[in-house]
Amino acid sequence: PAHAAPRTVRDAPTVVAHRGASAYAPENTLAAVLKARELGTEWVENDVQRTKDGKLVVIHDTTLSRTTDVEEVFPDRAPWNVRDFTYREIRRLDAGSWLGASHAGARIPTLEQYVELLDRTGQNLLLEIKAPHLYPGIEPQILAELEDEGWLRGDRVRNRLVVQSFDTASLRTVHLLRPRVKTGFLGSPSPSALKEYAAFADQINPNHSTVTEDYVDSVHAFKGAHGKPLEVFTWTVNDAATARRVAGAGVDGIISNNPDVVADAT
Ligand code: G3P
Ligand code: CA
Repeated sequence: PAHAAPRTVRDAPTVVAHRGASAYAPENTLAAVLKARELGTEWVENDVQRTKDGKLVVIHDTTLSRTTDVEEVFPDRAPWNVRDFTYREIRRLDAGSWLGASHAGARIPTLEQYVELLDRTGQNLLLEIKAPHLYPGIEPQILAELEDEGWLRGDRVRNRLVVQSFDTASLRTVHLLRPRVKTGFLGSPSPSALKEYAAFADQINPNHSTVTEDYVDSVHAFKGAHGKPLEVFTWTVNDAATARRVAGAGVDGIISNNPDVVADAT
């Protein structure tokens, strides 16, 4: 309409289902990936750690207590650290009942099972290396697994995979070992530090509380490790008003437990 104020037309931000569509299905399970697909969400975020016997598994907390029935199944194994259990033991745990009886029977997936599901659904992966200080050598192991599964080639490595972490050393290692893999730093470095991050990262992924238009502009002013402007994917945005605010600030992506709400709002 003639009276409308001029505004910048931007693409809507990419929506990423945080731990899968975790408002509706148990976080970091295959069910949460399938729920995200049902909602039309093309990207899923997950958290990768390692079992005692060296299997890469998808779970957020460094202990099994909150999201499984481990304390009932293994009452004498406090403090129930992920890294103190074998995969055979972890496979026995119910990773869905905590969210409600209708989710009973969900399992903690291996990274291999997880990416194989994404191959079937066609969804893309924002993979978080969680607490890498607990898992020496996890970076090359994750990269080897992704390589075996075909995720370090062609369209998958170019457009369908980003590896993120709060840990800069871990991201530098990924970048050194496999420069083609895109990386995202979780946090909000000061603008004066961004140049340093741009040497190995493609995304700066801040908590939504720190997102302003000025900050997003200062990130976009740098070219990332693959020669394109550094992107901003912010987390964890679960309501429409915040989604509109960060979209207005110009973020490239929004990570959300309820990606349908964010997609509708932006
Ligand atoms: O994807 C960003 C977000 O997942 C980082 O925090 O604790 O949910 O892993 P957290
Ligand atoms: Ca995460």
